[in-house]
Amino acid sequence: MSIVDGSARFPLAFLPTPMHPLPRLKGWLQDQGTAAELWIKRDDQTGLALGGNKTRKLELLLGDALALRADTLITTGAVQSNHCRQTAAAAAQAGLYCHLVLGGGPPDTPNGNLLIDLLLGATLHWTTRENRLPRLHELEIELRDSGRRPYFVTYGGSDPVGASGYALALDELRQQIRESDVELDAIVVASSSGGTQAGLVAGAWQTGWNVPILGISIDAVKADLQSTVADLATRTASHIGSRHTFTGDDILVNDSYLGAGYAVMGELEREAIKLMASLEGILLDPVYTGRAFGGLLDILRRDPHRLLPGERMGRILFWHTGGAPALFAYTDDLR
Ligand SMILES: Cc1ncc(COP(=O)(O)O)c(C=O)c1O
Repeated sequence: MSIVDGSARFPLAFLPTPMHPLPRLKGWLQDQGTAAELWIKRDDQTGLALGGNKTRKLELLLGDALALRADTLITTGAVQSNHCRQTAAAAAQAGLYCHLVLGGGPPDTPNGNLLIDLLLGATLHWTTRENRLPRLHELEIELRDSGRRPYFVTYGGSDPVGASGYALALDELRQQIRESDVELDAIVVASSSGGTQAGLVAGAWQTGWNVPILGISIDAVKADLQSTVADLATRTASHIGSRHTFTGDDILVNDSYLGAGYAVMGELEREAIKLMASLEGILLDPVYTGRAFGGLLDILRRDPHRLLPGERMGRILFWHTGGAPALFAYTDDLR
Protein backbone atom coordinates (compact mmCIF):
# COMPACT_ATOMS: atom_id res chain seq x y z
CA MET A 1 0.00 0.00 0.00
CA SER A 2 1.24 3.45 -0.76
CA ILE A 3 -0.18 5.75 1.88
CA VAL A 4 1.02 8.90 0.20
CA ASP A 5 -0.07 8.27 -3.36
CA GLY A 6 0.35 11.48 -5.27
CA SER A 7 2.92 13.02 -2.90
CA ALA A 8 6.43 13.49 -4.18
CA ARG A 9 9.03 11.71 -2.07
CA PHE A 10 12.74 12.45 -2.31
CA PRO A 11 14.56 9.33 -1.07
CA LEU A 12 16.88 10.10 1.84
CA ALA A 13 16.41 7.26 4.32
CA PHE A 14 17.80 3.75 4.55
CA LEU A 15 14.57 1.80 4.99
CA PRO A 16 13.26 -0.28 6.59
CA THR A 17 15.08 0.62 9.79
CA PRO A 18 15.83 -2.42 11.97
CA MET A 19 13.45 -3.61 14.66
CA HIS A 20 14.82 -5.94 17.33
CA PRO A 21 14.47 -7.04 20.95
CA LEU A 22 16.52 -5.67 23.84
CA PRO A 23 17.45 -8.90 25.65
CA ARG A 24 19.85 -7.52 28.26
CA LEU A 25 17.43 -4.76 29.20
CA LYS A 26 14.74 -7.40 29.55
CA GLY A 27 16.99 -9.19 32.05
CA TRP A 28 17.59 -5.94 33.90
CA LEU A 29 13.84 -5.28 34.07
CA GLN A 30 13.27 -8.79 35.39
CA ASP A 31 15.73 -8.05 38.18
CA GLN A 32 13.56 -5.01 38.97
CA GLY A 33 10.49 -7.27 39.17
CA THR A 34 9.00 -6.40 35.76
CA ALA A 35 8.33 -9.04 33.16
CA ALA A 36 7.63 -6.71 30.23
CA GLU A 37 9.66 -7.34 27.11
CA LEU A 38 11.19 -4.38 25.27
CA TRP A 39 11.75 -4.07 21.55
CA ILE A 40 13.20 -1.15 19.67
CA LYS A 41 12.64 0.43 16.24
CA ARG A 42 15.91 1.96 15.10
CA ASP A 43 15.09 5.31 13.49
CA ASP A 44 18.44 6.44 14.86
CA GLN A 45 19.70 4.42 11.85
CA THR A 46 17.81 6.19 9.06
CA GLY A 47 21.04 7.58 7.59
CA LEU A 48 21.23 11.26 6.55
CA ALA A 49 24.05 12.76 8.63
CA LEU A 50 23.74 10.45 11.65
CA GLY A 51 20.04 9.65 11.35
CA GLY A 52 16.92 10.42 13.33
CA ASN A 53 13.18 10.92 12.97
CA LYS A 54 13.43 13.97 10.72
CA THR A 55 14.71 11.87 7.80
CA ARG A 56 11.32 10.31 7.11
CA LYS A 57 9.58 13.69 7.38
CA LEU A 58 12.14 15.37 5.15
CA GLU A 59 11.73 12.81 2.35
CA LEU A 60 8.22 14.19 1.83
CA LEU A 61 8.97 17.81 2.70
CA LEU A 62 11.84 17.87 0.24
CA GLY A 63 9.61 16.24 -2.36
CA ASP A 64 7.14 19.06 -1.80
CA ALA A 65 9.90 21.71 -1.94
CA LEU A 66 11.26 20.38 -5.22
CA ALA A 67 7.77 20.16 -6.73
CA LEU A 68 7.43 23.86 -5.89
CA ARG A 69 10.82 24.50 -7.56
CA ALA A 70 12.43 25.74 -4.32
CA ASP A 71 16.19 26.26 -4.31
CA THR A 72 16.65 26.91 -0.58
CA LEU A 73 15.40 25.22 2.60
CA ILE A 74 14.87 27.46 5.62
CA THR A 75 13.95 26.35 9.10
CA THR A 76 14.50 27.02 12.77
CA GLY A 77 15.36 25.26 16.00
CA ALA A 78 17.52 25.23 19.12
CA VAL A 79 21.32 25.35 18.99
CA GLN A 80 21.46 21.55 19.24
CA SER A 81 18.48 20.96 16.94
CA ASN A 82 18.44 17.54 15.29
CA HIS A 83 15.79 18.87 12.94
CA CYS A 84 18.10 21.65 11.72
CA ARG A 85 21.01 19.21 11.26
CA GLN A 86 18.93 16.84 9.19
CA THR A 87 17.34 19.66 7.17
CA ALA A 88 20.84 20.91 6.32
CA ALA A 89 21.82 17.37 5.28
CA ALA A 90 18.71 16.97 3.12
CA ALA A 91 19.48 20.29 1.41
CA ALA A 92 23.07 19.19 0.80
CA GLN A 93 21.95 15.89 -0.68
CA ALA A 94 19.47 17.58 -3.03
CA GLY A 95 21.84 20.40 -4.00
CA LEU A 96 19.80 23.16 -2.35
CA TYR A 97 20.93 26.03 -0.13
CA CYS A 98 20.03 25.87 3.54
CA HIS A 99 19.51 28.70 6.04
CA LEU A 100 18.96 27.95 9.72
CA VAL A 101 17.63 30.41 12.30
CA LEU A 102 18.95 29.26 15.66
CA GLY A 103 17.94 30.44 19.13
CA GLY A 104 20.82 31.70 21.26
CA GLY A 105 24.30 32.87 20.35
CA PRO A 106 27.26 31.16 18.71
CA PRO A 107 29.34 29.22 21.25
CA ASP A 108 33.14 29.56 21.22
CA THR A 109 33.50 25.95 20.14
CA PRO A 110 30.69 24.55 17.99
CA ASN A 111 30.05 20.88 18.72
CA GLY A 112 27.37 18.20 18.35
CA ASN A 113 24.61 19.11 15.91
CA LEU A 114 25.91 22.66 15.48
CA LEU A 115 29.29 21.46 14.26
CA ILE A 116 27.53 19.18 11.77
CA ASP A 117 25.32 22.07 10.53
CA LEU A 118 28.50 23.93 9.63
CA LEU A 119 30.09 20.91 7.93
CA LEU A 120 26.93 20.49 5.87
CA GLY A 121 27.30 24.03 4.56
CA ALA A 122 24.25 25.63 6.19
CA THR A 123 24.16 29.40 6.68
CA LEU A 124 23.39 30.20 10.30
CA HIS A 125 21.37 33.15 11.65
CA TRP A 126 21.33 33.75 15.40
CA THR A 127 18.49 35.34 17.32
CA THR A 128 16.68 35.00 20.66
CA ARG A 129 14.51 31.94 21.25
CA GLU A 130 11.34 34.09 21.19
CA ASN A 131 12.31 35.89 17.99
CA ARG A 132 13.04 32.79 15.91
CA LEU A 133 9.80 32.67 13.94
CA PRO A 134 9.61 36.41 13.15
CA ARG A 135 13.27 36.25 12.07
CA LEU A 136 12.52 33.28 9.83
CA HIS A 137 9.68 35.17 8.14
CA GLU A 138 11.99 38.16 7.63
CA LEU A 139 14.63 35.86 6.17
CA GLU A 140 12.10 34.34 3.79
CA ILE A 141 11.31 37.81 2.43
CA GLU A 142 15.01 38.76 2.21
CA LEU A 143 15.76 35.58 0.26
CA ARG A 144 12.84 36.11 -2.13
CA ASP A 145 13.91 39.73 -2.70
CA SER A 146 17.37 38.47 -3.63
CA GLY A 147 15.92 36.11 -6.25
CA ARG A 148 15.94 32.87 -4.28
CA ARG A 149 13.00 30.46 -3.97
CA PRO A 150 12.91 29.47 -0.27
CA TYR A 151 10.83 26.61 1.13
CA PHE A 152 9.86 27.01 4.77
CA VAL A 153 10.28 23.66 6.52
CA THR A 154 7.81 23.75 9.42
CA TYR A 155 9.23 23.66 12.94
CA GLY A 156 10.19 20.04 13.63
CA GLY A 157 8.93 19.05 10.18
CA SER A 158 5.57 18.69 11.92
CA ASP A 159 2.92 19.48 9.36
CA PRO A 160 0.70 17.04 7.45
CA VAL A 161 3.31 16.57 4.72
CA GLY A 162 6.14 15.75 7.14
CA ALA A 163 4.00 13.72 9.54
CA SER A 164 2.89 11.50 6.65
CA GLY A 165 6.40 10.07 6.79
CA TYR A 166 5.41 8.50 10.11
CA ALA A 167 2.15 7.17 8.73
CA LEU A 168 4.32 5.32 6.22
CA ALA A 169 6.67 4.26 9.03
CA LEU A 170 3.78 2.70 10.92
CA ASP A 171 3.01 0.64 7.85
CA GLU A 172 6.68 -0.36 7.63
CA LEU A 173 6.61 -1.52 11.26
CA ARG A 174 3.43 -3.47 10.70
CA GLN A 175 5.07 -5.32 7.85
CA GLN A 176 8.06 -6.16 10.06
CA ILE A 177 5.76 -7.37 12.82
CA ARG A 178 3.96 -9.66 10.38
CA GLU A 179 7.22 -11.06 9.03
CA SER A 180 8.78 -11.69 12.44
CA ASP A 181 5.60 -13.09 13.89
CA VAL A 182 5.74 -11.03 17.10
CA GLU A 183 2.81 -9.21 18.65
CA LEU A 184 3.10 -5.73 20.08
CA ASP A 185 1.07 -4.40 22.99
CA ALA A 186 2.18 -0.78 22.84
CA ILE A 187 4.45 1.69 21.08
CA VAL A 188 6.23 4.37 23.10
CA VAL A 189 7.83 7.42 21.48
CA ALA A 190 9.25 10.82 22.44
CA SER A 191 6.76 13.54 21.51
CA SER A 192 7.51 17.24 21.20
CA SER A 193 6.32 19.13 18.13
CA GLY A 194 3.98 16.15 17.71
CA GLY A 195 4.58 15.15 14.09
CA THR A 196 6.04 11.74 14.82
CA GLN A 197 3.23 10.66 17.13
CA ALA A 198 0.55 12.25 14.90
CA GLY A 199 1.86 10.42 11.83
CA LEU A 200 1.94 7.10 13.70
CA VAL A 201 -1.60 7.66 15.00
CA ALA A 202 -2.91 8.58 11.53
CA GLY A 203 -1.11 5.58 10.00
CA ALA A 204 -2.51 3.22 12.63
CA TRP A 205 -6.01 4.51 11.93
CA GLN A 206 -5.58 4.12 8.20
CA THR A 207 -4.21 0.59 8.40
CA GLY A 208 -6.79 -0.43 11.01
CA TRP A 209 -4.15 -1.40 13.58
CA ASN A 210 -5.45 -0.75 17.05
CA VAL A 211 -2.11 -0.52 18.86
CA PRO A 212 -1.76 2.00 21.74
CA ILE A 213 0.79 4.71 20.83
CA LEU A 214 2.02 6.52 23.93
CA GLY A 215 3.87 9.81 23.55
CA ILE A 216 6.17 10.72 26.40
CA SER A 217 5.99 14.49 26.40
CA ILE A 218 9.33 16.26 26.23
CA ASP A 219 8.22 19.83 26.84
CA ALA A 220 4.44 20.31 26.95
CA VAL A 221 1.73 19.60 29.49
CA LYS A 222 -0.57 16.71 28.65
CA ALA A 223 -3.66 18.60 27.46
CA ASP A 224 -1.60 20.85 25.17
CA LEU A 225 0.30 18.00 23.54
CA GLN A 226 -2.87 15.92 23.18
CA SER A 227 -4.57 18.75 21.34
CA THR A 228 -1.51 19.44 19.12
CA VAL A 229 -1.20 15.78 18.17
CA ALA A 230 -4.94 15.29 17.66
CA ASP A 231 -5.15 18.30 15.35
CA LEU A 232 -2.09 17.24 13.36
CA ALA A 233 -3.23 13.59 13.18
CA THR A 234 -6.58 14.77 11.78
CA ARG A 235 -4.87 16.89 9.13
CA THR A 236 -2.35 14.15 8.35
CA ALA A 237 -5.12 11.57 7.95
CA SER A 238 -6.82 13.90 5.50
CA HIS A 239 -3.52 14.42 3.65
CA ILE A 240 -3.12 10.66 3.16
CA GLY A 241 -6.72 10.28 2.01
CA SER A 242 -8.35 9.03 5.19
CA ARG A 243 -11.14 10.99 6.83
CA HIS A 244 -11.16 10.96 10.62
CA THR A 245 -11.31 13.60 13.32
CA PHE A 246 -9.13 12.79 16.32
CA THR A 247 -9.79 14.43 19.67
CA GLY A 248 -7.37 14.97 22.55
CA ASP A 249 -8.87 11.95 24.35
CA ASP A 250 -7.76 9.69 21.48
CA ILE A 251 -4.12 10.63 22.05
CA LEU A 252 -2.11 8.86 24.76
CA VAL A 253 0.34 11.22 26.45
CA ASN A 254 2.37 11.03 29.65
CA ASP A 255 3.73 14.37 30.84
CA SER A 256 5.31 13.21 34.11
CA TYR A 257 8.88 13.58 32.89
CA LEU A 258 9.22 17.26 31.96
CA GLY A 259 11.90 17.61 34.66
CA ALA A 260 13.53 21.01 34.88
CA GLY A 261 12.46 21.93 31.34
CA TYR A 262 13.34 21.48 27.70
CA ALA A 263 16.89 20.27 27.09
CA VAL A 264 17.77 20.28 30.79
CA MET A 265 19.25 16.87 31.45
CA GLY A 266 18.59 15.29 34.84
CA GLU A 267 19.12 11.95 36.58
CA LEU A 268 16.25 10.32 34.63
CA GLU A 269 17.91 10.96 31.28
CA ARG A 270 21.41 10.18 32.57
CA GLU A 271 20.39 6.78 33.93
CA ALA A 272 18.46 5.87 30.76
CA ILE A 273 21.34 6.86 28.48
CA LYS A 274 23.89 4.91 30.53
CA LEU A 275 21.68 1.83 30.83
CA MET A 276 20.89 1.64 27.13
CA ALA A 277 24.53 2.20 26.22
CA SER A 278 26.04 -0.22 28.71
CA LEU A 279 23.47 -3.01 28.32
CA GLU A 280 22.63 -2.82 24.63
CA GLY A 281 25.33 -0.73 22.96
CA ILE A 282 22.73 1.76 21.72
CA LEU A 283 23.05 5.53 22.10
CA LEU A 284 20.09 7.61 23.24
CA ASP A 285 20.15 11.42 23.33
CA PRO A 286 19.99 13.85 26.28
CA VAL A 287 16.91 15.82 25.19
CA TYR A 288 14.35 13.46 23.63
CA THR A 289 15.03 9.73 23.68
CA GLY A 290 16.88 9.82 27.02
CA ARG A 291 13.83 11.47 28.60
CA ALA A 292 11.30 9.24 26.82
CA PHE A 293 13.13 5.99 27.56
CA GLY A 294 13.79 7.09 31.15
CA GLY A 295 10.05 7.74 31.47
CA LEU A 296 9.22 4.33 30.02
CA LEU A 297 11.57 2.58 32.48
CA ASP A 298 10.03 4.53 35.33
CA ILE A 299 6.50 3.53 34.29
CA LEU A 300 7.54 -0.11 33.99
CA ARG A 301 9.25 -0.15 37.36
CA ARG A 302 6.46 1.61 39.23
CA ASP A 303 3.31 0.30 37.64
CA PRO A 304 3.43 -1.36 34.23
CA HIS A 305 -0.37 -1.60 34.17
CA ARG A 306 -0.53 2.15 33.63
CA LEU A 307 0.83 1.29 30.20
CA LEU A 308 -0.53 -2.21 29.77
CA PRO A 309 -4.09 -2.54 31.02
CA GLY A 310 -5.08 -5.80 32.67
CA GLU A 311 -2.69 -8.34 34.10
CA ARG A 312 -0.85 -8.90 30.86
CA MET A 313 2.92 -8.31 30.85
CA GLY A 314 3.36 -7.53 27.25
CA ARG A 315 5.79 -6.55 24.59
CA ILE A 316 6.50 -2.85 24.25
CA LEU A 317 8.26 -1.22 21.33
CA PHE A 318 10.34 1.87 22.01
CA TRP A 319 10.62 3.93 18.85
CA HIS A 320 14.16 5.35 18.85
CA THR A 321 13.98 8.75 17.14
CA GLY A 322 17.72 9.51 17.08
CA GLY A 323 19.48 12.60 18.44
CA ALA A 324 22.78 11.12 19.65
CA PRO A 325 24.93 13.92 18.11
CA ALA A 326 23.68 16.16 20.94
CA LEU A 327 25.45 13.89 23.47
CA PHE A 328 28.68 15.73 22.69
CA ALA A 329 27.17 19.01 23.87
CA TYR A 330 26.43 17.44 27.29
CA THR A 331 29.88 16.03 28.10
CA ASP A 332 30.03 17.62 31.54
CA ASP A 333 26.58 16.30 32.52
CA LEU A 334 27.32 12.78 31.33
CA ARG A 335 30.74 12.07 32.77
C1 LIG B 1 15.74 12.92 18.55
C2 LIG B 1 14.33 13.42 18.55
N1 LIG B 1 13.38 12.62 19.05
C3 LIG B 1 12.09 13.02 19.10
C4 LIG B 1 11.71 14.26 18.65
C5 LIG B 1 10.28 14.66 18.75
O1 LIG B 1 9.63 14.47 17.54
P1 LIG B 1 8.36 15.36 17.18
O2 LIG B 1 8.85 16.78 17.16
O3 LIG B 1 7.92 14.85 15.88
O4 LIG B 1 7.37 15.18 18.25
C6 LIG B 1 12.68 15.13 18.10
C7 LIG B 1 12.29 16.48 17.64
O5 LIG B 1 13.07 17.33 17.41
C8 LIG B 1 14.03 14.69 18.05
O6 LIG B 1 15.00 15.48 17.56
